[in-house]
Amino acid sequence: MSKKRIKVLELTFETSISEEKITKEVTRIASEMNQDLANKNPIFLGILNGAFMFASDLFKQISIPCQITFLKLASYEGTQSSGTVKQLIGINQELKDRTVVVLEDIVDTGITLDTIVRQLSGYEPKEILVATMLHKPDALQKEVKLDYVGFEIPNEFVLGYGLDYNGYARNLPEIYTLVKD
Ligand code: IMP
Repeated sequence: MSKKRIKVLELTFETSISEEKITKEVTRIASEMNQDLANKNPIFLGILNGAFMFASDLFKQISIPCQITFLKLASYEGTQSSGTVKQLIGINQELKDRTVVVLEDIVDTGITLDTIVRQLSGYEPKEILVATMLHKPDALQKEVKLDYVGFEIPNEFVLGYGLDYNGYARNLPEIYTLVKD
């Protein structure tokens, strides 16, 4: 694949994962889920904003009975000295005793996912499964359980396919890596 270069704001990026490769992995994950979750009546929770494209492509290939909703982590200044607290908002279904499948765009340090899983546990689901399109194993700071992973990537900044740089480039159908000069 010849690498395509683009400029986003002041930074240069080049393609690292093609649309074709992404489609192949999304199809693999969907078919695993169709088998694993067939009798579990799962509820999929897409985490906004980043996971919207992965979630949309994946859901089109999910053929078992399921429900789908989207959640967001909202920051607010907590009263604790720890500073910013992130709260998961948008849960309006009953999650008690359900198989919950979290869909993430990327697990980098794992701090975001850890926060999400802790908060979801409070709703007493039967189990929490996690699917992420991208994972940077070398950046992990928290112990997280990943059930479905699209690609393991180096610890470098990426964008496209839902991921952004200052809000830009989420619309790109392939994944790009920052070019260091
Ligand atoms: P973590 O809490 O460090 O695992 O980061 C999770 C969130 O940070 C993701 O949901 C993304 O929104 C953002 N993020 C982490 N790495 C990247 C990247 O390489 N490009 C764009 N966003 C990223």
